[in-house]
Formats: sequence, C-alpha cells, structure tokens
Amino acid sequence: MDVGALETTILDIEREALGALEQVADRAALEEWRVRYLGKKSPLSQVMRQLGSVAAEERPRVGEAVNRCRDRLQTAWETAKEALSERLLNERLASERVDVTLPGRRRERGALHPLVRVMQEVEDIFLGMGFTIAEGPEVETDEYNFEKLNLPKDHPARDMQDTFYLTDALLLRTHTSPMQVRTMEAMRPRVPVKVIVPGRVYRRDEDDATHSHAFNQIEGLVVDEGIRMSDLKGVLEQFARAMFGPDQAVRLRPSFFPFTEPSAEVDVRCINCGGAGCRVCKDTGWIEILGAGMVHPHVLDWAGYDHRRYSGFAFGMGVERIAMLKYGIEDIRHLYQNDLRLLRQFARPV
Ligand code: DAH
Repeated sequence: MDVGALETTILDIEREALGALEQVADRAALEEWRVRYLGKKSPLSQVMRQLGSVAAEERPRVGEAVNRCRDRLQTAWETAKEALSERLLNERLASERVDVTLPGRRRERGALHPLVRVMQEVEDIFLGMGFTIAEGPEVETDEYNFEKLNLPKDHPARDMQDTFYLTDALLLRTHTSPMQVRTMEAMRPRVPVKVIVPGRVYRRDEDDATHSHAFNQIEGLVVDEGIRMSDLKGVLEQFARAMFGPDQAVRLRPSFFPFTEPSAEVDVRCINCGGAGCRVCKDTGWIEILGAGMVHPHVLDWAGYDHRRYSGFAFGMGVERIAMLKYGIEDIRHLYQNDLRLLRQFARPV
C-alpha cells in the first residue's frame, strides 16, 4: 500500500470533515457528524483497517497520522459543540428577553355592585351594634309570609303584597319579615334576639322607575325583656348617622303594619338637600327609608316569646331605595341592567 496515498487520503478526510462541521447548525446534525467522522464506520477507521497492508516500518507513521487527524477532529467537534450550545442559549435568551422599561399590562378590576355594597355597609353597621346576620328561604310558605305575621287570609293588607304563588300554600316571599318568626322559633327561649336579615323579595308589581318585581330588603329584629320604642329610635338613629352622615336625624311617623303595634314609617333628613326641600324629598325635607314598629303581641306569642314578659322591635328597609338615595340613581331599573357605564363608577381605584 502506498503510504503517500494514504496520507493524502487522511488529509482529504480531515478537510472534508472540517468542511462538513462548518455546515452543522443543530444538535442532531452535530451528532450525525460525530457518528460519521468519529464513529466505527468512519473513513478514518477504514484507513486504520488498511494498516495491515502497509509495510511494517511505515505503520507507525500512518498510525500517528490517523491519530493526529482523529484528535483534531475530536477537538473540532468539542469546540463546535460548545459554540452550538452557546448559540442556542443566546437565541433562547434573546427570544425571552423582557423589556423592564415597558409599561405594565393593567388588569381590569371588577367592582362590587352598588346593591351589594349597600348591603355590606348596612351589615357592617349592624354587626358593629352587636347584631348577627341570618338568611332565609325565598320560597316561603303562606303561613310564615302572612299568617304568623298577623296577616290572616282575608286581611286587606295582603292586597299590597300580592306575589307569585307556586301552590296555594307556597309563594315567593314578599318581604324578609317571615324571618322574624323563623329566627324567634329557632332561638326560643333565648334572649336577646338581635338579628338582621338581608335577602331578595318578590311582588306582583309592574316594573317602573320605582318598582321591581324582585328587589332586596334588610329586616331587623330585637327581642328581649324591656325593649322599648326608644330603643328602636336609638338604633335607627345610630344607623342613619353611620350610613348617611353624622348630622343625620330620624323621624318616626305613625303608620300601620299588621305585625307591629305601634307601627311607624321612618324618615331621614333628605340626603339630596339636607332638609331644605327639593325634588327628591318633594319639598318636605324628609325621605322615608323604612318601616318599623314594636313587634305585635300575637307575633311574639305565636313564635314562642310570651308578650307579657318579652317585647321587641322590628324594621324593614328596601336596599334599592337606599342605594338610589345614596348614589343619586333615579331609576331602579338601572340597578338591574348591568350597564357598565353605571357599574364602573363603583370600581375602587387600583
Ligand atoms: N315587611 C314590610 C314591607 O315589606 C316592612 C316592614 C315594616 C318590616 C315594619 C318590619 C316592620 O319589620 O316592623 O313592607
């Protein structure tokens, strides 16, 4: 075998291999290259296999040439491998680059619906006065919605609270007052009973600017020995000041509810004009915000609290009405239409 030809072959192999290595662009190609030029079937290995046919004294020379070539290819491969890793890393870093000077993407924040907000505010105020919060069923029995509240079947006061009936005995509650009875029945004979009840109620009313067939009320009930009308007034005054401002005053006007005796309609100073008289208060300077009274002896007795020993007061307010007054909303329907132009005004600043 011609040693000179073999040496030329080795140099050709090296040139070809190094040339091919320059074309390698990814890890798979690099591995292919390694198998091809440094593996068992590489051209270099084939040269080695021909070594037997080389004259013995020439073998070391050819062997060394092969080894030098393999070393250089090995080194070239390692260098290429490192360069490739670095390049891939740089590409990744470039693609994941973050510009910390860009303005952040703002997340849109939801807001509490004004009704929810008012309810939470009212709840907070009464929690602060030692009340607990209860909730009751919206599908109510005639018995609890009317009978046990001293509104028997033929009572004319029922006309004001027509509702949706599921059966003769089951209806959508017209007020949160049935929870007065349910709470007392659950509590008896313990005192004090001191609870507020927020919740949805229903009436068979035509929807207009001030009426809705479904709306929200918050009921209040206090029962103990020696509860007087002045306690009612004090609690409501406290509430009015916390809700509408420290200078608020409340006014009780005689009224009628079958489940309270005596009964009152309760006004606060007009939130719009402060009492001077305006369109909102129809020039009276006062705005009605709730109905109230001393719990009727029948209602107490039927619920298990002997009226000769216990007395109590109760009140019920419309949440929509309070929200409308507080936020100057003129049509109750605005509260149900999910118009973002209204709701956005209640988003708290971020
Ligand atoms: N339940 C009454 C209504 O919906 C409001 C009411 C009046 C509740 C007097 C009371 C009360 O607790 O004492 O019209």
